[in-house]
Amino acid sequence: MIDWQIDSWRKLPIKQVPEYNDQNHITQVEKELSIRPPLVFAEEVRRLRKRMADVAEGKAFLLQGGDCAESFAEHNANNIKDSFKVLLQMAVVLTFGSALPVIKIGRLAGQYSKPRSSPLEVIDNVSLPSYRGDMVNDMAFNDQSREPDPERLLKVYDKSASTLNLLRAFASGGMADLTKLHEWNLEFVRGTKEAEKYKELADKITFSMEFMNACGMTPENTAQLRETEFYTSHEGLLLNYEEALTRKDTITEEKGWFSTSAHMLWIGDRTRNIDEAHVEYMRGIANPIGLKCGPSTDPDDLLRLIEKLNPLNQPGRLTLIARMGSSEVYSKLKPLISAVKKSGLIVGWCCDPMHGNTVKASSGFKTRKMNDIMTEVKGFFDVHKEMDTIPGGVHFEMTGQNVTECVGGVYEVTETNLADRYHTHCDPRLNATQSLELAFLLADLLSDNRNISRKLVSTAC
Ligand code: PEP
Ligand code: CO
Repeated sequence: MIDWQIDSWRKLPIKQVPEYNDQNHITQVEKELSIRPPLVFAEEVRRLRKRMADVAEGKAFLLQGGDCAESFAEHNANNIKDSFKVLLQMAVVLTFGSALPVIKIGRLAGQYSKPRSSPLEVIDNVSLPSYRGDMVNDMAFNDQSREPDPERLLKVYDKSASTLNLLRAFASGGMADLTKLHEWNLEFVRGTKEAEKYKELADKITFSMEFMNACGMTPENTAQLRETEFYTSHEGLLLNYEEALTRKDTITEEKGWFSTSAHMLWIGDRTRNIDEAHVEYMRGIANPIGLKCGPSTDPDDLLRLIEKLNPLNQPGRLTLIARMGSSEVYSKLKPLISAVKKSGLIVGWCCDPMHGNTVKASSGFKTRKMNDIMTEVKGFFDVHKEMDTIPGGVHFEMTGQNVTECVGGVYEVTETNLADRYHTHCDPRLNATQSLELAFLLADLLSDNRNISRKLVSTAC
């Protein structure tokens, strides 16, 4: 990598990071982090890059989801387990609809810092620094809480390590066993139309499993039936934390620098300036990375960014995460896809139907409407169909908890219900029922795609 060093980002302008009062303290914390063990390993990262290359080619589908912002208060085994279960359920629905492997990546085990639209929050004429995620400061609205605290970086490392430990155990220790499909249903989802649809599908899979068992393929002798691959990701926002966990791979020939804080990192829509620090740091690591593309993304700028972030045009390295909003998805996404297609640059395309659809309810709560989310997803698939390109995946904010943060859906959360269980530390998330509803919509869209490509193959024969 030309002219890149692990800390070359430090010489460039940077946005959305905290300023610490005590420089010695933050330097001490960075030192401490840099000697702690890596959270993920180069070989896992390389494997994900291969999976993401499949996503870009339409041989796999990406399901990336989790909290908008993880929080220390909600860090517990049940919450992690419930999010994991919902992601597994969604993945089963999608695998069934698409007949493709589904690559599962959590916004988990590190998603603790947030970019904000304003540096200050004003309540009753009192103005304080905005809450930037538990990695930076505390949500409580007072001077002391809002002061950025370096110790929080160490706490994020500890929390992320224990989340990862549990996720690894869930993925390979029995929870993901396909014979347990029915047990993934969460209590509060039972009785809904989505739960019924899920049960029907799980029954069909159980039936096929019985056939496979009779043929000699059982969870005991076939790892794919009892285990799953599960990867982690977060926005790479606090680059001092990322730098401290960036390590050289000494084992294989590739010998590159790997971020070991997560398998995948992404660049947010507010920090994707080509001449600034976040792009500089990300260009040098060998992980698969994501780039959020909002409505202000210019097609020529995007091509330059892709060339900078993936100069070797390596498949699986870069996934573009489009977050245009339901009303702009068609008009804004098409020119980007068109430019990338003409350029021959290899990227995966993924749809984030959340961040372009945030609105304020009359009660003051930030929310998102299920209808807008669904419309953006459909629009994303439509544009790709028209352009003959690949709608590779979705990226969304969800929780396994029974929250009322997004309105609509079969359970019909209304604007007046929002206050009932509004727990998010940042943006509104889909609850488990709404997540399943999204999965069934995606499964329909994917199975349409599959029928189209089948038709094309049969006419070609
Ligand atoms: C996010 O993914 O939580 C986020 C802040 O997204 P974006 O950068 O697309 O606004
Ligand atoms: Co968010």
